[in-house]
Amino acid sequence: MEEEDSPFLIGTLVSGDSFVDREWPRKHLRTNFRSGINTILISPRRWGKSSLIRQVSVDMSRDKDVRFAFVDLFHVRTEQEFLERTTEAVIKALGKTMDQRMADVKEFVRGVVPQISFGVDPLSEFSLKLNLPEGRRDMQDLLDLPERMARAKKVRLVLCIDEFQNIAMLPDPVGFQKVLRASWQHHKAVCHVIYGSKRHMMMDLFNKQSMPFYRFGDVMFLDKIRREDWVPFIQKRFASRKKNITADVCDFMAERMQDHSYHVQLLGHAAWLRTTGRICTKAIVERGLQDLLNQHDALYHRLVDDLTTPQLNYLRALLNGVERFTTMETIRRFSLGSSAHVKRITNALENKEVLDFVGKKTEWIDPLFKIWLEERFWGGRLRMI
Ligand SMILES: Nc1ncnc2c1ncn2[C@@H]1O[C@H](COP(=O)(O)OP(=O)(O)OP(=O)(O)O)[C@@H](O)[C@H]1O
Ligand SMILES: [Mg+2]
Repeated sequence: MEEEDSPFLIGTLVSGDSFVDREWPRKHLRTNFRSGINTILISPRRWGKSSLIRQVSVDMSRDKDVRFAFVDLFHVRTEQEFLERTTEAVIKALGKTMDQRMADVKEFVRGVVPQISFGVDPLSEFSLKLNLPEGRRDMQDLLDLPERMARAKKVRLVLCIDEFQNIAMLPDPVGFQKVLRASWQHHKAVCHVIYGSKRHMMMDLFNKQSMPFYRFGDVMFLDKIRREDWVPFIQKRFASRKKNITADVCDFMAERMQDHSYHVQLLGHAAWLRTTGRICTKAIVERGLQDLLNQHDALYHRLVDDLTTPQLNYLRALLNGVERFTTMETIRRFSLGSSAHVKRITNALENKEVLDFVGKKTEWIDPLFKIWLEERFWGGRLRMI
């Protein structure tokens, strides 16, 4: 039999057929962007923020007077790099051809002599180096460049800034945020979309009165994709390769991965690899899951080595169904020290990206790690305490 490619996508941004609808947040975002409302989008890691914004940009590709520029702050460590990546993204978004971009750089980048380099494909690989003189005096012009260009070209520019929490890594984070906010709040043709996954850091940036970006825009918390949306999606993905899977088995797949976007796709892929016949059964999904646990074994052992005993005790208590961690009974039963210790433990588990505390709910950042702890690390000993 001929080997087919997998109908599941992992790790890349998804859109089109690979994208579960998310109809409501899409509509909400489209309305915000058309209305020029600055938007902050927050969710734990790998729930699908970047894919969602990309999908909305696809949704709006017919709006002739709206353009999207994408900036990723993941590797940005200096103010200069911030400006370079932003300027680059805006020039790319507003100029279709290489000649147009060169002309735009000439016309709109003032005060500094830019170095431009093109990659193998000049339309997708285009980078800019700005030799900024010391200090922030010359920055203003570059900070206003998105607005100047959008106005000149009579378009609304949606400036999408991913991994925004990395702004905290710049040498003078608050000072730079003040400069940014002062400039951005005058922008009329630019709509800013800011997203990131470190919920606490993002909330501090946007919800603390003392911070420059306090009340900068509409703060949206992205939910998980709902089970009733996952089930038909998984069925369709299998059907696209002429294989069957029942709704019950799809439900089981999403449930095992706690409806986590990345991990449902990951398990879908693992189950797909194991489906040699026409039908994917529950036993096959379970086998796919065991494959994933095998693959991650070494990684998870290392993760556990990095946790302290009280942190592991907390996770064990959580897996035992404990909801109130600061009661005397729980503290004693799971050796958590004291209620002050509990706070320290939860902070550490959040910083180490093991858990995220969303309202009253505790979310596992990696649902596969949860299963590994339950089934392999503690196994039969989990509930012995
Ligand atoms: N709407 C969706 N439908 C189906 N799968 C999705 C969807 N959104 C995300 N995914 C899956 O989750 C993975 C992670 O998505 P994405 O990179 O968009 O998340 P993110 O929240 O931006 O992650 P990070 O916090 O790491 O930046 C994708 O590679 C894809 O497998
Ligand atoms: Mg992302």
